[in-house]
Amino acid sequence: MGESAADILKHGFGEFRAFVNPLIAERARLAREPIEFVRVEGGVLHDAAGKSYEDLHGTQMLGHRNPAVADAIRGFLDSDVPNWFPSRVNPWAGRLARRLCERTGYSNVFFGMSGADAVEAALKLARAATRKPRILALTGGYHGCTFGAVSLMHDGPLHDPFGPHLPGVEKVPFDDVDALAKALAPGDVCAVVVEPIQGEGGVRSLSPAMIAAVCELTAKHGALLVADEVQTALGRSGRFLASEAWPRKPEIALIAKTLGGGLVPISAMLTQRETFERAYGQNFFIGESHNTTFGYNGLSCVAALATLDLLDDDLIASVARRGAEFRSLLAEALRGNPLFTEVRGEGFMIGVELVHAPHPWLSFEHFGMPELAHQPTIGPLLCYRLYARGFFAFVCGHDWRVLRLQPRFDIPDARLAELAKACREELDHLANLS
Ligand SMILES: Cc1ncc(COP(=O)(O)O)c(C=O)c1O
Repeated sequence: MGESAADILKHGFGEFRAFVNPLIAERARLAREPIEFVRVEGGVLHDAAGKSYEDLHGTQMLGHRNPAVADAIRGFLDSDVPNWFPSRVNPWAGRLARRLCERTGYSNVFFGMSGADAVEAALKLARAATRKPRILALTGGYHGCTFGAVSLMHDGPLHDPFGPHLPGVEKVPFDDVDALAKALAPGDVCAVVVEPIQGEGGVRSLSPAMIAAVCELTAKHGALLVADEVQTALGRSGRFLASEAWPRKPEIALIAKTLGGGLVPISAMLTQRETFERAYGQNFFIGESHNTTFGYNGLSCVAALATLDLLDDDLIASVARRGAEFRSLLAEALRGNPLFTEVRGEGFMIGVELVHAPHPWLSFEHFGMPELAHQPTIGPLLCYRLYARGFFAFVCGHDWRVLRLQPRFDIPDARLAELAKACREELDHLANLS
């Protein structure tokens, strides 16, 4: 017999603190995050007291434990087909790749297990295809925590301790067209890696001028354009890929997060057959030189196929429309509050920028955490107050002034209205304190 869920729910949270990462556990405790969820109903998390929470992280865009994806996984496990093929020629990977290509206009797919895996695949593909050394990323970026990806990370505690970083990586200031042009001019850049909307950088969309420049200049100088769509893809921005709206299709687009329906890990690097062949087409050894053992497993692909079935054009169009309506509602609700700056984003990828009020009491120093003294508090305090209202919201990792709201796609309108009202009332409360 396996371990019982009841026993794990009783002891496993403490075991996480003891055996996995005490700092994550302590951070969550200090921030008073709801931690001990025991049940999912209707896509929503519940704690032992029966209180429900909307998860606004964005990873579960189809709701927690989506029943259609769970059924597909269950059906696969109940069958007798192989999950893993020693040759690596896995028919489920083949079908999923075909479906992704038909949907996006790409013609070649590499599968990984995480967003960072897909980023690594892109960096290696670009180096091997172009044989050029330099890689450009933007300040404010977040591309994951493996070595290549972390080299592209915005400077700071998630990046700095790991030097020396991947040679050849340089950061261009966000949205600085002149700096991009100058960095690309020598013609020795293999890839420019950008997020269409920076997530951890503060829900910042690339400006139309920067999009035009990055599309034109990468083509001119022979660099591959990599759209890191780990946050923006699969409808989150109101389009299947946010980069669909760009004047030039990037050579590479990266997707992850909900590709496995929020239940199993899987990521994908989408590219074109000719780019793959330029990089890896010379001989059999090179053809297998980028690989991951479980990247081609049937179970993950089955979950992703079920996810693609759910993410039809109507659902994605509704994300575009409802996202715009919710952003207006939220901006209207928050207007006039002295701590509010603006609501921004696309689709259901939404950022609320707040004022960094330098109040001596509302400071991490005052809360007994001098190492965070430079960090703004209003965003984290608003998150804290939203927990009590049944909303699990976050601030952006690189910019704590910005509240990040990424609802599931089938969140009812009434719940969005409650979220706007809760943001207004709780921010009013904080404004009165400060
Ligand atoms: C834009 C972007 N790229 C890459 C990643 C890394 O994904 P993963 O955490 O699955 O490795 C993230 C993670 O949030 C991300 O936001």
